[in-house]
Amino acid sequence: MADTILVTGGAGYVGSHVVVELAKAGYAPVVLDNFANSTPAVLPRLQALAGRPIPSVTADVRDAAALRAVFHDHPIAAVVHCAGLKAVGESQERPLAYYDVNVGGAIALAEVMGEAGVATLVFSSSATVYGQPDHLPVPEDAPLRPHSVYGRTKRVVEDFLRDLAKANDNWRIAILRYFNPAGAHSSGMLGEASRGKPANLVPLLCKIAAGELAELAIYGGDWPTADGTGVRDYLHVQDLAEGHVAAMRYLAKAHGAHTLNLGAGRGHSVMEVVAAFEKACGRTIAKAVAPRRPGDVAAYYADPARAAKLLEWRASRDLQVICADAWRWQRNGGRY
Ligand code: NAD
Ligand code: UD1
Repeated sequence: MADTILVTGGAGYVGSHVVVELAKAGYAPVVLDNFANSTPAVLPRLQALAGRPIPSVTADVRDAAALRAVFHDHPIAAVVHCAGLKAVGESQERPLAYYDVNVGGAIALAEVMGEAGVATLVFSSSATVYGQPDHLPVPEDAPLRPHSVYGRTKRVVEDFLRDLAKANDNWRIAILRYFNPAGAHSSGMLGEASRGKPANLVPLLCKIAAGELAELAIYGGDWPTADGTGVRDYLHVQDLAEGHVAAMRYLAKAHGAHTLNLGAGRGHSVMEVVAAFEKACGRTIAKAVAPRRPGDVAAYYADPARAAKLLEWRASRDLQVICADAWRWQRNGGRY
C-alpha cells in the first residue's frame, strides 16, 4: 500500500506542487490547510493532476486536537510541513502572528507526531535564514543572520527540529532551505495565487505583462553586481517539489536532522529575469529603477552540492522554462 503523507499547507503554492509530485511518485498525500492564504478551489485540480482522490482537512496546524484527529483518521507515515506565514514585510509588523503560526505550528505538529509515533518530517525552511552571505555560492554551514522576523521564525524552527533529532534518534528530519521558488506547474493548472498584491518578482512580472499592474519598480540599480540589479537563485517550483520527493526517499534510509539547500546553484539578475520573461510572453515590460527595498541583499545563490550528493536531486528547468510556465499560468487566469 502507498505510504500516506500529510502535507500541511498543501493548498498553497509550494504545497500544491508537492502534493502532485508525491502522488506521481506513488505516495498517497493528505492535505491539511486552513486556507489563510489559499483556496479549496485548488483541490479538484490536485485530484485531476494526481490522478487519485486527495483527502483534505480544513484545520489550523496549531490546533493539536485537530491534528490528533487527522493522525487518527489517516495512516500517516510522514509529514511535509509547508503551512506557515511567509510575507517578509508583514512579519515585521505582526511578529506575534508569525512566531505563533510558524513556531507554534511546528511545535504542535511535532508534539502530535511524537504521540502518533510518526517520526519522518520534511520542513519548508528558506535561504532567507542566511541574510547577507559572506561568500557565493552559499553552503549550508554559512552563518545564519536572518534580516526579518519571518527569517528568524524559520531559524528558530530549524534549531528546534535539530534539537529534537539530537534528543531522540528516532526522528528523520529534512530541513529544506528553498532559494527563490518561481514558475508554475507545466500544465498551467497550478501556480502562485497568494492573496493581495504579489511581492515576489516573477508573479509581479505576470501581472504587469497581463496589464493588471503598470510597471516594475526595480529595487536598486546600483548593487555590486554585473548589471547593478539584485541577483537571486530562481528555482522552478516543480524542481522544488521533486526535491521533497527526493528528501522523503532519503529519509527512508537516514536518521537524524539533515539541512539541505534547494536551489539551482546559479544566480540571475533582475534585468536577466525581465529579459527572459519578455521573451516568454512576447511583450515589453515597463520598468523603472527605484530605491533599494529595505532588508534586500545584493546577491545570493545556492551551493546545491549536498542535495545533489545526498538526495541525488538537482534542478533541471532553467529560467526560460520558469518564465514560460509562469506566463502560461497567468494566461489561464493566474488564480483559482
Ligand atoms: P503559501 O502561502 O502559498 O502556502 C502556505 C499554506 O499554508 C497556505 O495554503 C496557507 O493557507 C497555509 N497556512 C497558513 N497558516 C496556516 C495555519 N495556521 N494552519 C494551516 N495552514 C496554514 O506559501 P508557499 O510559497 O507555498 O510557502 C510554503 C512554505 O515554504 C512556507 O513555510 C514558506 O515560508 C516556505 N518558503 C516559501 C518560499 C517562497 O518563495 N514561496 C521561499 C522559502 C520558503
Ligand atoms: C524575498 C524575501 C525572502 C524570501 C524570498 C523567496 C524580502 C526582503 N525577502 O526575497 O525572505 O525567502 O522572497 O520567496 O522580501 N525585485 C524588484 N522589484 C520588485 C520585486 C523584486 O526589483 O518589485 C527584485 C528584488 O530586489 C530581488 C529580486 O527582484 O533582487 C527578487 O525579489 P523577490 O522575488 O522579492 O525575492 P527575494 O528578494 O530574494
